[in-house]
Amino acid sequence: VDKKNLEIENHIILGGAGFIGSNLAQHLSRLSKKITIVDNFSLGSLKILEDLNLKNNLNIKVIDGDINSSTTWNHIYENNLEESFIWHLAANSDIKSGATNPYPDLINTFQTTASLIAHARELKLSGIAFASSSAVYGNKNHRLSEEMSCDPISNYGVAKLASENMLRAYSNLREIPLWIFRFANIVGTPATHGLLFDLFLKYKKNNHQVEILGNGSQLKTYLGVNELIKFMLKLIEQKNSGTWNLGPNDQGVSVEKIAKLFAEHLIPIPALQFGITTHGWPGDMPTALLNCDKLFGLFQETKLSSEVFIHHAIHDIGNQLEMILKCDRQ
Ligand SMILES: NC(=O)c1ccc[n+]([C@@H]2O[C@H](COP(=O)([O-])OP(=O)(O)OC[C@H]3O[C@@H](n4cnc5c(N)ncnc54)[C@H](O)[C@@H]3O)[C@@H](O)[C@H]2O)c1
Repeated sequence: VDKKNLEIENHIILGGAGFIGSNLAQHLSRLSKKITIVDNFSLGSLKILEDLNLKNNLNIKVIDGDINSSTTWNHIYENNLEESFIWHLAANSDIKSGATNPYPDLINTFQTTASLIAHARELKLSGIAFASSSAVYGNKNHRLSEEMSCDPISNYGVAKLASENMLRAYSNLREIPLWIFRFANIVGTPATHGLLFDLFLKYKKNNHQVEILGNGSQLKTYLGVNELIKFMLKLIEQKNSGTWNLGPNDQGVSVEKIAKLFAEHLIPIPALQFGITTHGWPGDMPTALLNCDKLFGLFQETKLSSEVFIHHAIHDIGNQLEMILKCDRQ
C-alpha cells in the first residue's frame, strides 16, 4: 500500500501486541503513520513489540491496559485528539480455552467490543475495522460466503458474531464506516497460538512423539499475515466498507497434511499420534473453507495457496521458537 494512498494518519490498534496486531503496527509504521497500541499483554507481549522495534519509536505509543477499563480509554483519548481509525483485534484468540468456559470469550472478545462502543464517542473516528473469523458461520455443507446465515458452534464464534452485530448497529447509528473482516486461519510470526505453534511446543517437550488433536481430516484455508494486512489496507484505502471474507480461494489443507509437512521438517522426525474425532476440540469446525469470490472480484491479480503459506510458516515459526529457546538458555 502506497503511503499517499492510505489517507488516514492516526491509527489505534486494540490488541496491538499480538500476532496480527504487531504485524499491522509494523506495516503502518513503515507508512509513517501515528500509532497507538493498546494491549493488556495477556496473550501478546511487550517482547513482541521490542523484537519488531515497535517499542521505542516516536510515532508509536504503547498503552498497557485492559480494553474493558475506563482508565485505559482515558490514556487512549489523551493520545488521540485528532481524527483516528480504530482496529479492534483484541480477543480471546485461544479458542480451545472457551470450549468449556464461556467467560474468556464473553470478556475478551465480546465485552471489549461493547467497551469500544461505549467509549468511542469521545474519539473522532474515521472508521472501524473488526477482526472477525470464519468461526461465525458454523458447520455448513458449502464453502462459506458472506451472505450465508451464521450459526456459530463455539463460544468464540458466538462472541465474534455478537460483536459484528453490535458494531454494525453502532456504525449505522453513528454513520461511521465499518469493515468486518472474517479471516481464514492466519499464519506467520510472531506466532502466539494456532496449530503450528502448538505442534512446535509439543515437539520441544517430546521430540519422539507429537499428539494431533482430531483425526487429521480437518480441512481449512490458510493465509499469510502479510497478505492479510495488504488486503485489509487496500479495502480501507478504496473505501470498500462492509463484510469481507479474507483468505485464499483454494481447497485448503488438511491437518494430516500439515502435521506431516511439519514432521518432515524436523530432525529427529517425530511420530505423529492422531486422535479419533473429526474435530480438534469441542467447537472446532471440521471444515472451514472460505469463499473469497467477493474479495477476488476486486483483486484478480493474486494467486494464493494455503499450502505455500503453511510451508513458509513452518519454516518461520520453527526459527521463532528456536530463537526463544536460545534466549531462555542464555
Ligand atoms: N490468527 C488467526 O488465525 C485469526 C483468525 C481469525 C480471527 N482472528 C482474530 O484476529 C485478532 C488477532 O488475532 P491474533 O492471532 O493476533 O491473536 P493474539 O492473541 O496474538 O492477539 C490478540 C491480542 O489481544 C490482546 N487482548 C486480549 N484481551 C484483551 C483485553 N481485554 N484488553 C487488552 N488486550 C487484550 C492479547 O493480549 C493479544 O495481544 C483476534 O481478534 C482474533 O480473534 C485471528
